[in-house]
Amino acid sequence: MVKKFTTLYRHIIDEERKIPEATGQLSDLLYDIALACKVISLEVNRAGLIDILGFTGQENVQGEAVKKLDVYANEILTHVMRIGGHACAICSEEDENFIPFADQYFKQDILNKYIVHFDPLDGSSNIDANISIGTIFSIYRRVSKNGPATLEDCLQSGLRQVAAGYVVYGSSTIMVYTAGKGVHGFTLDPSVGEFLLSYENMKIPKKSKTYSINEGNFSKWNDGVKNYINFLKENDKETSRPYTSRYVGSLVADFHRNLLYGGIFLYPADEKNKNGKLRLMYEANPLSMIVEQAGGRATNGIKRIVEIQPTELHQRTPLLIGSEEDVLIAEKFLEQK
Ligand code: AHG
Ligand code: MN
Ligand code: MN
Repeated sequence: MVKKFTTLYRHIIDEERKIPEATGQLSDLLYDIALACKVISLEVNRAGLIDILGFTGQENVQGEAVKKLDVYANEILTHVMRIGGHACAICSEEDENFIPFADQYFKQDILNKYIVHFDPLDGSSNIDANISIGTIFSIYRRVSKNGPATLEDCLQSGLRQVAAGYVVYGSSTIMVYTAGKGVHGFTLDPSVGEFLLSYENMKIPKKSKTYSINEGNFSKWNDGVKNYINFLKENDKETSRPYTSRYVGSLVADFHRNLLYGGIFLYPADEKNKNGKLRLMYEANPLSMIVEQAGGRATNGIKRIVEIQPTELHQRTPLLIGSEEDVLIAEKFLEQK
């Protein structure tokens, strides 16, 4: 239980003060993201009332149907990042290419040194059903020294993330972030409009009793995945089997529950999705940084997600993420495919 009454901004600043060479840019950038997410949260809550729901009739670069709230969330985040003056480029799941920011948005005195990746609205197929959805983000330092940001700036491995986080728009709106020194969670108090510290230094249980996977894909999995899921369903008191199955279909919501209570989430490769379904840069990397900071594990079955060198922005990856011991066991089964 958190006793102090700490706002997100106060917390971010206190954390950054611990680093002597910090300029304050990262604090401002995180605060801008939180601001954009507060606006998205309002719109998510209002969505049922103002008939904003429904397909726009377009497809995003992944070939999926885009809903109006996805577009809205993408526009708000892009706008806030552009005028905030700390990012030199953003990369979004909803945009085919990265967007470098033009010179007029650069601060005069300091270089805009950050690259921000985001999944503006995760779990968007759940919007109409009033099920939790979210925003995921990830922050890198640019590698180029000056001029417009380059693709190389945007294609860095997850190990180089400076900060990462997500916001879940659920029964309350919660923001969870890490800047490399633990994972902290904040709940939005809608009456004062502030995110207040509600979970300090979050740790994921080392072993769990819960698995999250889309089991409708069973026939498309290789034997390793099939054997693992069958193993979780067997009776064995000592290892807490059978496990409970929980699958929301919004990665952020499944991840957040597993972070709090323990659990393993899997979206493996299958016959249809040869590289899995989830995106390395917008979903897997940020959640992997968070889970590792919380004492958990995230791999593609062979190596740590954060060690993968990306080759394209919208790259997909198989994902096994959650409680450390569970992920290690799952990896063993996947080796046997
Ligand atoms: P998005 O809404 O950003 O496209 O992401 C959807 C993702 C993720 O949130 C979820 O875990 C997964 O897709 C669900 O996929 P299936 O419907 O194939 O289970
Ligand atoms: Mn997503
Ligand atoms: Mn999305």
